[in-house]
Amino acid sequence: MTPTIVIAPGDGIGKEVIPIALKAIETLHPDWTYIPVELGYECYQKTGSSLSDEVFQIMRESDAILFGAVTTPPTKEYQSVLLRIRKELDLYANLRPIQAPNVDILIVRENTEGLYSGIEWIEKDRACTVRVVSETGTRRIIRYALELTKKRNGHLTIGTKANVLASDAYFYEIAVDEISKYPHPIPYTMKYIDLLVLDVIANQARYDVIVTTNIFGDILSDAAAYLCGGLGMLPSANIGVYHAFFEPVHGSAPDIAGTNTANPVGAIRSAALLLQHLGDSDGAASLETAIQNTWAAGIKTKDLFGTASTTEFSDVFLSQLRRLI
Ligand code: NAI
Ligand code: MG
Repeated sequence: MTPTIVIAPGDGIGKEVIPIALKAIETLHPDWTYIPVELGYECYQKTGSSLSDEVFQIMRESDAILFGAVTTPPTKEYQSVLLRIRKELDLYANLRPIQAPNVDILIVRENTEGLYSGIEWIEKDRACTVRVVSETGTRRIIRYALELTKKRNGHLTIGTKANVLASDAYFYEIAVDEISKYPHPIPYTMKYIDLLVLDVIANQARYDVIVTTNIFGDILSDAAAYLCGGLGMLPSANIGVYHAFFEPVHGSAPDIAGTNTANPVGAIRSAALLLQHLGDSDGAASLETAIQNTWAAGIKTKDLFGTASTTEFSDVFLSQLRRLI
């Protein structure tokens, strides 16, 4: 059976970049099933719901979801689309590849617990957030990182604050145990997260796969984005046992939405991660080659100091892609 892919552009520039990423996958796989869905803030304004149960059910039954971005409004009653999806689909591994000339780092962020476990309360004169690190949560993210490291024939760095936080000392202890049980020897080191953030930027070549807890991974990957030309370039994957969700790292960018200037590369690279996840590594590689060839032809969007519009980039990119297949 061929895969079913849910296409959820969402808000703002999500509606401009996701159609290009979709065309790219469709070009390679015209026989797959693509189901467009509406969600996000504009959907909320129209229908009163940011993510309907019907749409959620379609996502649940799909093989993969390609998502753009959603605008977060300041209203309290508005339900966070992304948090619900991450939680209910149990997307425990957040993957952020950082790629640029001479940089090839894969950040694996635990995505369901840590400081984002949602256990919080406010007292009279203080507020508390509980940081949860569980054995099961740690074992599965370390295992996932080990599989990726093995595939890349690389090495693993574990980012922690084990010198200060008991929860991180625990994370590291479980990690070492899981690594010792892994059937293939994987070289690994542990680095304190504060030093790691600096070192990833100063000495990129030292790093291959990096695994860390939720908020540290969030901070580390945004800092590492500095290495590769900004937010418009970065893809991400959110993987669970049964579900997989792919989205560019950027948001809905209301400041440039509708101006035909958004860089679609983060979205196209997210589509490449989706292809890889579904076993089409060659397809994923051709998307990247087509991006590189488009840039080599002098077609760059404004954020990369070029003059091409989103649609100009898209036209050249898609013709480059067709030449490759
Ligand atoms: P943003 O990522 O939307 O934009 C930050 C800056 O980067 C803006 O100046 C924008 O023009 C630029 N930018 C982002 N993507 C670009 C692209 N592909 N090409 C060229 N320039 C690009 O973050 P911001 O402005 O903080 O948030 C805007 C809205 O998006 C908010 O409502 C926020 O909550 C939401 N958001 C949603 C995310 C998601 O759906 N995963 C992630 C981040 C923010
Ligand atoms: Mg972020």
